[in-house]
Amino acid sequence: MERFAARRLGRIPPYLFAELDRLKAETGGDVIDLGEGSPDLPTPKPIINALVRAAARSENHGYPTYAGKLSCREAVAGWYARRFRVKLDPGSEVTMLIGSKEGVGHLIWGTCGPGDTLGYTDPAYPIYPNQARLSGARPIAIPLREGNGFLPDLDVVDDLGPRLKLLCLNYPSNPTAAVAPLSFFREVVALARKHGFGVVNDCVYSELSFGSKPPPSILQIPGAKDCCIEFHSLSKTWSMAGWRIGMAVGNRELVRSLLRIKQNTDSGPFGAIQDAAAWALEHGERFAARHREVYRRRRDVFCRALRRAGWQVPVPEATFYVWTRPPGKRRDDYAFALELLRECRVVCAPGVGFGRFGRGFVRFALVQPEPRLREAAARIGTWLNRTPTTKTRRSRDD
Ligand SMILES: Cc1ncc(COP(=O)(O)O)c(C=O)c1O
Repeated sequence: MERFAARRLGRIPPYLFAELDRLKAETGGDVIDLGEGSPDLPTPKPIINALVRAAARSENHGYPTYAGKLSCREAVAGWYARRFRVKLDPGSEVTMLIGSKEGVGHLIWGTCGPGDTLGYTDPAYPIYPNQARLSGARPIAIPLREGNGFLPDLDVVDDLGPRLKLLCLNYPSNPTAAVAPLSFFREVVALARKHGFGVVNDCVYSELSFGSKPPPSILQIPGAKDCCIEFHSLSKTWSMAGWRIGMAVGNRELVRSLLRIKQNTDSGPFGAIQDAAAWALEHGERFAARHREVYRRRRDVFCRALRRAGWQVPVPEATFYVWTRPPGKRRDDYAFALELLRECRVVCAPGVGFGRFGRGFVRFALVQPEPRLREAAARIGTWLNRTPTTKTRRSRDD
């Protein structure tokens, strides 16, 4: 261990995307980066204008309040009521965050520590197990299998229930793109109430969906506020990842524990950003719909081109991720991702970076404009059709 690194840092692996950035820089040339899920679309102009107006207001120049401006929390409650028909008390059931990543991390610190167990679905956004490890708690992976639509087996959750302090879910899911139906949330809430554990649903992709029914909130289940907290973000919906603004809503004790850590760590998001976020929540649905349409077209362009080339990738119903097994007989996702970078100069994320049960899959993030996605798919198609292992697969799939 290095001299100036805490021993607890030894409990977490290197951050996946830092490693991908290094490999990308080493490769050089015209690399198409579909690795990290950082939206490439600009923030809609009216939201930027709302920020500019708010930045001039002196009320925003002091320290923000810890839970966030009441006006912004009211905007969150209003959005929840319209979008999910869920009633929230802005005073005690909503807190603003410097992005949902910050909130999830601090919630884990506020609720878990040595002797506690946190269940999380695997493959997952790596923050849940890594923050559990840093807090001294024990993370337990609950596998997500393709055959079960990438939902966890609820018998496994029931068995683990008596040991769990917190269960972390993420639907719509990064990286699998799965959407959980309300019936699934109903069973999870019943198990949480039976065993007394808390439930996190990281719901940051709820507005990027392409089916006829928008994804639900776990808080739509009666009684969910006894045990559940949900995280949202403006990062993906309105392309505001750099602004660092999100929110946590739900069970007031969970919200309070999160806030106690935040009070001792940060001072909340800049008030002007909260004003702009409130504007987006109250007036921004048409821009969210526009972004959804862009991602839907990208999904169709990319998936269709790969499928035409013989790689039968699944077409996601939500999120901007394509989660798929590598084509042909390739089994090693990490080796495949390196091969793709070397042969096609296309970056994808190897599934193992999202946990043990992500092995054998790769993830493409559709965060490049359509022409670049066409180009990426064309390079991949040309390469695959030169290599014998894909030809075998192609004849089988066709
Ligand atoms: C599942 C999930 N949760 C949270 C985040 C972070 O969002 P934010 O920008 O609000 O911190 C991401 C970002 O990729 C994500 O995929």
